[in-house]
Amino acid sequence: MAKNKKQLPILEKVLITGIAAEGKAIARYNDLVIFIPFVVPGDVVDIQPTRKKNSYAEGKAVHFHEYSPQRAEAFCEHYGVCGGCKWQILPYAEQIRYKQQQVVDNLVRIGKIELPEITPILGSEKTQFYRNKLEFTFSNKSWMTEEEIRSGAAIENRNALGFHIPGMFDKVLDIRKCWLQDDISNQIRNEIKSFALQNGYVFFDLRNQSGLLRNIIIRTSSTGEVMLIMVFFEDEKEKRDALLNHIAEMFPAITSLIYIINEKANDTITDREIHVFKGNGFIYEEMEGLKFKIGPKSFYQTNSGQAYNLYKIARDFAGLTGNELVYDLYTGTGTIANFIAKNARQVIGIEYVPEAIEDARINSGINGIDNTLFFAGDMKDILNDEFIKTYGRPDVIITDPPRAGMHDDVIETILSAEPHKIVYVSCNPATQARDLNLLGQKYRVSKVQPVDMFPHTHHVENVVRLEIKL
Ligand SMILES: C[S@@+](CC[C@H](N)C(=O)[O-])C[C@H]1O[C@@H](n2cnc3c(N)ncnc32)[C@H](O)[C@@H]1O
Repeated sequence: MAKNKKQLPILEKVLITGIAAEGKAIARYNDLVIFIPFVVPGDVVDIQPTRKKNSYAEGKAVHFHEYSPQRAEAFCEHYGVCGGCKWQILPYAEQIRYKQQQVVDNLVRIGKIELPEITPILGSEKTQFYRNKLEFTFSNKSWMTEEEIRSGAAIENRNALGFHIPGMFDKVLDIRKCWLQDDISNQIRNEIKSFALQNGYVFFDLRNQSGLLRNIIIRTSSTGEVMLIMVFFEDEKEKRDALLNHIAEMFPAITSLIYIINEKANDTITDREIHVFKGNGFIYEEMEGLKFKIGPKSFYQTNSGQAYNLYKIARDFAGLTGNELVYDLYTGTGTIANFIAKNARQVIGIEYVPEAIEDARINSGINGIDNTLFFAGDMKDILNDEFIKTYGRPDVIITDPPRAGMHDDVIETILSAEPHKIVYVSCNPATQARDLNLLGQKYRVSKVQPVDMFPHTHHVENVVRLEIKL
């Protein structure tokens, strides 16, 4: 039997004073710094510490004495249990103010950068229903909320279709309405769930690795197309066809109806076969008349509207005249490369995932772009002095690395290639600041533009322009 851990004493009437790096709120109690989710600066709460180290603790608010005047009302019924949209209790203007501050703090403290004047963060026009892709999981072990447990009522049906609870790998919160994606996503998910329950379909049991229904992925696009990917664990044709025919009939808006059988232990579908049940095997996204083909396995920025703004900023910072050789590092499906191709002499895109590079080439093809070249492989292995000798010294480098930032070898190669300008797009200002510090040997930061791609989360995107020191 699990040991009943002794609870730490409750800290009473603590004033929440700020927001910490990973989005949790912060408070001080004597010499202790405490990190607490689901509260905002100005709240006065009793805190139950859940973990304590010498100088800091983590805890949760168990009683509110005062609500901050800065608070916004949470709009989602799943708020506080679901892992997403944790900042909806902060007014949007405050959210982006904290994000801007986070960028400045990182650049100054970690990057030791002499900052130019920073343009105010670009907020997202849509703060709800802004995502174009969501994944929901089936589980026969729904997460029970504290109220459900306290009510003591026996819950017979523990089937859920929704999001994983953070830190609980086999528990899923049943979602009735999610505010992140166009409402058709809610309608499709709820219809699939009720059809499955009415017809006795078995929801996935993660621990025992059994059941028919595993995941769904819904992708929507600004062109109005909708893709539904149904992932089954077991291969039961009759039941699968009945469900997919029902959904196709109910939702003529679905232009791409796909299914996948995934009988592996993990959820990734990248190595699974795609079956197109009805319609096309892809949808399109559009930007400035350019079309981007999105297959079930393709990456595309999840907030399409803000992605367009982000790319415009990157293009503007690059200041292209049409004569430049541009390297687009970490190009993904080549969206930035194709977006700027008409402004450059040639664009070279490099990316780890071979399928993404195939998409990048297809996207050049369908848009009649013939001045792009794409290479697949690990950046630190591909981008070296030999590569630059072969393909030419870049005039401009645009780089958009993953959260971990760039490998030291990649930074070394960039420094020795000496492009006139570097445009550094980042989803993690801390690793960006670290890399900028290294690039500081030869470059100065001349522009900084934070962008909010993910309202109600603490995540922030930041675009920096570096110019070579003369
Ligand atoms: C932030 S995304 C860039 C997306 C792209 N610029 C866009 O806007 O669609 C980072 C990309 O870096 C790729 N990547 C991650 N590690 C890499 C590595 N070591 N070498 C090359 N590419 C890598 C990922 O596969 C991903 O496509």
